[in-house]
Amino acid sequence: VKIAELTTPALLVDADAIDHNLGTMSAALPAGRLRPHVKAHKSTALARRQAGAGHRAFTCATIREVEGMAAAGLGEDLLLANEVIDCGRLSGLDARVTVAVDSEATIEAAARGHIKEVLIDVNIGLPRCGCAPEQAGRLADLARRKRLEVRGVMGYEGHVVGLEDRGLRQELTEQCMGLLVGAHEDVGGEVISAGGTGTFDINTQASEIQAGSYALMDSAYARLDLPFRQALTVLSAVISVSGSGYAVCNAGLKSLGMDHGNPGMDGGHSVYLVSDEHITFGPGDPVEVGDLVRVLPAHVDPTVAYHERMYLVQGEDVLDEWPVDLRGW
Ligand SMILES: Cc1ncc(COP(=O)(O)O)c(C=O)c1O
Repeated sequence: VKIAELTTPALLVDADAIDHNLGTMSAALPAGRLRPHVKAHKSTALARRQAGAGHRAFTCATIREVEGMAAAGLGEDLLLANEVIDCGRLSGLDARVTVAVDSEATIEAAARGHIKEVLIDVNIGLPRCGCAPEQAGRLADLARRKRLEVRGVMGYEGHVVGLEDRGLRQELTEQCMGLLVGAHEDVGGEVISAGGTGTFDINTQASEIQAGSYALMDSAYARLDLPFRQALTVLSAVISVSGSGYAVCNAGLKSLGMDHGNPGMDGGHSVYLVSDEHITFGPGDPVEVGDLVRVLPAHVDPTVAYHERMYLVQGEDVLDEWPVDLRGW
């Protein structure tokens, strides 16, 4: 199958770029030093490649992701790095499942749902989940009284991972990790899980890094000084060319995560406007109706979640089709 035969818009994954990204990451953080986050690609086919690169423990954001990974035989060590109430869905799975908890209520939910292992989720600066660092020891004691195994702590410096200034990223990561390491002293256990793509080589205090975007990348992360290539593009067809100098292709808000801003485009085209099913752009190279163009998403996670499948491509050839089988909740 050739790329030109695909129905557009379609998600393309460049085979050489993803091989480069997986190889670069596994050389920097081999085996258990990385716990890849599947939320970035939601695909067991891609997770299997990560396992092949030596990473057999995974991070998930939703119960559906844990269920899908377990069903695919990738459940050796799954961390649900998120607070959940309906833990019962997790108890019968053929997988080792560890759940993040940050309150008495989520510890109670884990115990009720027959979860065996937890991490104490600590807030290290991002205004999202996580207990106050000084509460972590108390929550760990409570979890142990409820017969939960406490494997350690997790935190996520999500407000730091995207900073373009490497010096600032480093300084703030050290501050965040000071809080997490302090909490870990009160909690115990072997695991200090933290980090993302932007801090994969900066966060040296975590025992494991939870990066996910590195595999496919996006144009927001491409602005940083990272050794990963943009493997993900949205293939789109030119559907209209205006006499006033702009052209329109058939990708839009419904095929692109837009929370990190407008996408980029190959071919020297510049994006003017994105609406539901259209991108209006200024052509670099001249275009005609029917031409195929490549759109570079600004944020990988929500982009992938809009699509049912990704196509692995090399040159003009489609090598494989990967279902986005971990979509949903
Ligand atoms: C809990 C958690 N850990 C790690 C990550 C790392 O992701 P990324 O590779 O996109 O930096 C995320 C992303 O949002 C996250 O929510």
